[in-house]
Amino acid sequence: MPKQSLHALRKKQDFLLHDPIKGLLEDYKKIYKSSNFSLQKINQKDYQNDTSRKYTIAVCGVALGDEGKGRIVDNYIETLLKNKSISKVGVIRYQGGNNAGHTLEKGTIKLALHLVPSCVLYQKAFGIMDRGMVIHPEDLMTEVGYVEKSAGTLKKRLFLSSDAILNTDLERAEEIVNRIMTGKAKGGTGRGIGPSYAHHLDRLGLTIYDLISDGWKELLGEQYRRYEKIFAAFDLKLATDVLVPDFYETVNQKKSVTRTVGSRKAFIERLTFAREWLIQRNMIVDIVAMHKEIARDTKVGVVFEGAQAVGLDSWLGTWPDVTASNTRIDGVKEGTAFWRPEDIESRIGVFKIPYTSSVGQRQMPTHIDLPKEGMLTESASEEQKWAMWIREEAHEYGTTTGRPRDIAHLDLEFLRYNARMGDIEMLAGTHLDSASEGQEIKVCTHYTDQRGRPMAYQPGLHHLEHVKPNYISLPGWDGKAASKARKVKDLPKNALRFLSFITARTGYPIVLATTGTKRENIISF
Ligand code: IMP
Repeated sequence: MPKQSLHALRKKQDFLLHDPIKGLLEDYKKIYKSSNFSLQKINQKDYQNDTSRKYTIAVCGVALGDEGKGRIVDNYIETLLKNKSISKVGVIRYQGGNNAGHTLEKGTIKLALHLVPSCVLYQKAFGIMDRGMVIHPEDLMTEVGYVEKSAGTLKKRLFLSSDAILNTDLERAEEIVNRIMTGKAKGGTGRGIGPSYAHHLDRLGLTIYDLISDGWKELLGEQYRRYEKIFAAFDLKLATDVLVPDFYETVNQKKSVTRTVGSRKAFIERLTFAREWLIQRNMIVDIVAMHKEIARDTKVGVVFEGAQAVGLDSWLGTWPDVTASNTRIDGVKEGTAFWRPEDIESRIGVFKIPYTSSVGQRQMPTHIDLPKEGMLTESASEEQKWAMWIREEAHEYGTTTGRPRDIAHLDLEFLRYNARMGDIEMLAGTHLDSASEGQEIKVCTHYTDQRGRPMAYQPGLHHLEHVKPNYISLPGWDGKAASKARKVKDLPKNALRFLSFITARTGYPIVLATTGTKRENIISF
């Protein structure tokens, strides 16, 4: 297998930025029409940052979230731990909160994580919830209880920064009221993520440090009163008029459950319980000292676990359909106040290989219209049938809500942009098994304007209304055969060609692909 030259790929990233059409047919012919096609071998070392701290990996979503990052993180922990010179692995969550949903599977264990880093299936791994996160203490208590039932104790394996942003029912009530007031059904997850980050910026918010400090009851009590007054101005009673998500009951009953915020007394009582639990668990430690120690001790591998994705970044996503944090790999700077992207050896962006999906409704130029509920009618187009098939095949339903996700064609213009802006060097793809022999897969290679001139991706909704996605149809492959493959050579040739085409038209190498939900369904290139 010929070796892919790093220099050539980097050059390609640059020229595709300026001319996304050039070389398209040549690449297609080289990959699909040549009789001696073979996947170009990639030397991952070439893509690693050589001035960085050894054994550090960042994993970040490069599309619109739910790409399968938990799996990929889990896999990298295993790989790092197999290395004899590594004794432990630290997994650092640097942004987001209980809006994230990372799924892990091992044998009969299946866990959906939200706040807790994806380190829990390894005794030799520990997790840090760092200062860039928003933490709802009662939710954390619920989640730790739920995880410990199947993964064993997290004591001494889970740490929380005292600088992390405090997220309570108050910010949730605020998000829900804003939603009611503006009449916008869509928006956030209802977990108060936006208001919590907003109040970090307007300095009205609180941190975990405030919660564990002596004067906490006054601080939180004042905060409650402030909200009460704001709600009263809109003729609403904070205690009774707004329903917020009840994570504890949602986990117990396995369906979305809500409750009222309750009186100030009830609010403080619930927090008292969570606060005492937090203090007793000793999970709030000096994270700065910990980072220094980790950076110095190369026996400790580090995985930075991003939540959401570059396409949902508050600045680089399609505003307003974004989350409130910096979801890029450079989010590790503010999210840890210690590490920089250039300190990280391998920077991986995760995406779904044959398609893109989204939980929230958002502008995607390659979006496929599907009925909100029920089945397709007889007059449905081929692409609608394909999207419906993907939705069922890949179980594209929200982890918490069960809501069907929107489906879109794989968009290489969008992928290229997000990889470039997200500080990503390599790609890891998921769902290589979501394909079928004889069924073509449409891929958007670039955008043009009405007159056929190339137009770049830019995350402005107005801009995106005017782009026309241009597609190429590529042959599908036997998804079942892909999921049985354990080695590159066992993968269907058209699956390898598809991956090659993505690399050729983005300039980013694919280093890993998942082929099913089980742990063994993963292939490294
Ligand atoms: P928020 O983060 O709760 O404010 O939600 C803002 C938008 O981001 C909504 O459209 C959510 O559906 C979406 N979102 C937030 N977190 C995730 C995630 O982890 N995966 C996918 N979408 C997400």
